[in-house]
Amino acid sequence: MKITMFDTKPYDKKYFEEVNPNYGFDIKYLESTLGENSAIMAKGSDVVCPFVNCNVDKKVIDILADEGIRLIAMRSAGFNNVDLKRAAERVLKVVRVPAYSPHAVAEHSFAMLLTLVRKMQHAYVRTREFNFSLSGLEGFDLYGKTIGIIGTGKIGRCAADIAKGFGMHIMAYDPYPQQIEGIEYANLEQLLKKSDIISLYCPLTKDNRHLINAESLKMIKKNAVIINTSRGGLVNSEDLLEALKEKRLAGAALDVYEEEAGIFFTDQSNEGIEDDTLARLISMPNVIVTSHQGYLTEEALRAISETTLKNISEFEQGLPLSNEIK
Ligand code: NAI
Repeated sequence: MKITMFDTKPYDKKYFEEVNPNYGFDIKYLESTLGENSAIMAKGSDVVCPFVNCNVDKKVIDILADEGIRLIAMRSAGFNNVDLKRAAERVLKVVRVPAYSPHAVAEHSFAMLLTLVRKMQHAYVRTREFNFSLSGLEGFDLYGKTIGIIGTGKIGRCAADIAKGFGMHIMAYDPYPQQIEGIEYANLEQLLKKSDIISLYCPLTKDNRHLINAESLKMIKKNAVIINTSRGGLVNSEDLLEALKEKRLAGAALDVYEEEAGIFFTDQSNEGIEDDTLARLISMPNVIVTSHQGYLTEEALRAISETTLKNISEFEQGLPLSNEIK
């Protein structure tokens, strides 16, 4: 099988090259993301392997299908960037990596939360400059606070376990609630009104775009914190910025951003960025932005490589596809 892998970085190649000897696939690693202009680069391959910011829309799928590609093997859990309907129409199978390390993302969301509420981003810079003053670094305890978990799937449940360790009260909203000890389910409005920390762990779907918007932000407690490690499109960034400017929130931690494609995963330090909303958010003392880094642990990268190549191997052998998205 010939595989063209889009949007790859040296760390992707490292882990795929570790696992590929078990399969012997012919892998072409491209730095370019998959889109209308780059899809043709998959010519001659059987499989394309896109990542989160690749644009696998109707036009791209048509190019891939015309070039004889038979499988889209996502190296991610999320698949909001794939036109599944068109893929089915062009008889292209789509597989993904449903779980690689839910702990990685859940732990990252708490790394961001703790950084924000204990002002670590400021403390780190101060002590590096031998400024040992504590003024302005007052934080707050997580113990006893209410965390509102939106989406109690694999990552949300790991986050709930971590929150239990901190002695937090856990509220959750999920259209498919489960019986989980220590989690109090509520509707979205109740969760927004009662939570001190609101953390998103649900997929981006056509129904929940801008779940956090001007209206929902008005319901949120004053001085609450918002954490988004899910997908940028869940939060209306302009509305979030307004709420922060009006000092209605204590802060926000964003590992994802709705317009992240073309910015995240790349070094823009020489050029700067044109996205004024993102630039303004980054400039705020109570906002932390990481570059879609939640998944970036050794364990997760290894698991992504293993599952992706196993998915492709199942396809090659004509076996049922364990991780097919239909
Ligand atoms: P999962 O499929 O195990 O769980 C998702 C949960 O969200 C399900 O329980 C589902 O019922 C619920 N849900 C669906 N729509 C909802 C809505 N409108 N409101 C509230 N809950 C809703 O998925 P998993 O593995 O927990 O991942 C969640 C998301 O995390 C992924 O879809 C992806 O977007 C994001 N993610 C981010 C990563 C990062 O590096 N920052 C890495 C991996 C995933």
